[in-house]
Amino acid sequence: MVACSGQQGQSGADPAVTLPPDPLAPLAAALAALPAARRRQLRDFEPGGTAELRPQADPAMGALLDLASNDYLGLGRHPQLLAAARQALERDGVGSGGSRLVSGSRPVHSALERRLADWLGRERVLLFPSGFQANLAAVGALADRHSLVIADRLCHHSLLVGVQASGARLQRFGHNDLADLERRLGQARAQAPNQRLLVISESLFSMEGSQPDAGALARLCAEHGAALLLDEAHALGVLGPGGRGLAWGQAAVTLVSGTFGKAFGGGGAFLATGAIAGEWLLQQAGAFRYTTALAPALAAAALAALDLIEANPGWGAALMERAERWRTALAAAGWPRPPGQGPILSLLVGEEQAALALQQRLEGHGLLAVAIRPPTVPPGTSRLRLVLRQDLPAGSLKRLLEALGEAP
Ligand SMILES: Cc1ncc(COP(=O)(O)O)c(C=O)c1O
Repeated sequence: MVACSGQQGQSGADPAVTLPPDPLAPLAAALAALPAARRRQLRDFEPGGTAELRPQADPAMGALLDLASNDYLGLGRHPQLLAAARQALERDGVGSGGSRLVSGSRPVHSALERRLADWLGRERVLLFPSGFQANLAAVGALADRHSLVIADRLCHHSLLVGVQASGARLQRFGHNDLADLERRLGQARAQAPNQRLLVISESLFSMEGSQPDAGALARLCAEHGAALLLDEAHALGVLGPGGRGLAWGQAAVTLVSGTFGKAFGGGGAFLATGAIAGEWLLQQAGAFRYTTALAPALAAAALAALDLIEANPGWGAALMERAERWRTALAAAGWPRPPGQGPILSLLVGEEQAALALQQRLEGHGLLAVAIRPPTVPPGTSRLRLVLRQDLPAGSLKRLLEALGEAP
């Protein structure tokens, strides 16, 4: 650790003077204790051909087939999205220059909110610069320090940060275990009949690839008078009728959280809800009020993505069919069948080093997939996260099976 010059001067001048503690010393100690295998590194990629990424640090490696990004529909470089974003850049500039409630609101924001509300059958939609922020706002709207939040054990970090910020008490229910949730809801109601309850789950779990029974989840929450926040970040554009997600048609889902950073191929996010919760978010949510509005070019790209998804309602189902074929082929090759039905295929490996070795083996065969390790997942459950996208070329599955080699 490099001491600042003031400290050096003091210690040199008079050894009897007690130095104040170094505020960064605990961070330096924690970093030094981090095992090498846990230390994350940034890696830059340049887009190659269709569904390909080129690692910058290793030009000899060439382009890798992208089995890692969440661009499930391959819209990130779609000509219609590029054209819409370019037009908005020319018209509105790069940034919005202010919060939505000050000077940052543009017609493209309001148009996107109306279109999403119609598409999802909700009364109110509000845009956010990121899904992480949207989740903070969502939890804050539905829970406070008098509330009990019951969240799926594998919920995304942003949702848990939201619970912490709300001051609510937190319980976790077993992953997709509705019997456990029912028991907890029953107990909570028996103990405090008027308590504010919030249940949080996701429609497609990002590290697991699994889905809950959304209808049963919604019914359970309605029966116990609990609000339900469903994070559809990975589901929208893919799951549900026409890609409308698992909350589609479920009035008991109080609030839907969605992002444009995945199947919509861009960036930014939204919350979709009823009139009361929508107005509350507008009036009260700091994560909406005190942030620069979503860049207009990203809002325009999201509108173009929505046009494409609405015009191609079979895209999600086709991707699910392909995902089913991949799951069956992986199981037939001796690997544990990845859970769920969607485009995230989680190949359980076990130990961190084994998952990293598998990632490296795939890269040697020209495939990019990422080893997911603790603390993102529990120890002993490291895995390779394989992501299917609709623009993967024919023959990708064969390449993957050859690269994986013999199942352990
Ligand atoms: C389940 C889930 N929710 C929310 C987010 C955050 O979305 P965004 O990337 O738009 O911040 C992510 C993305 O990592 C996610 O996986």
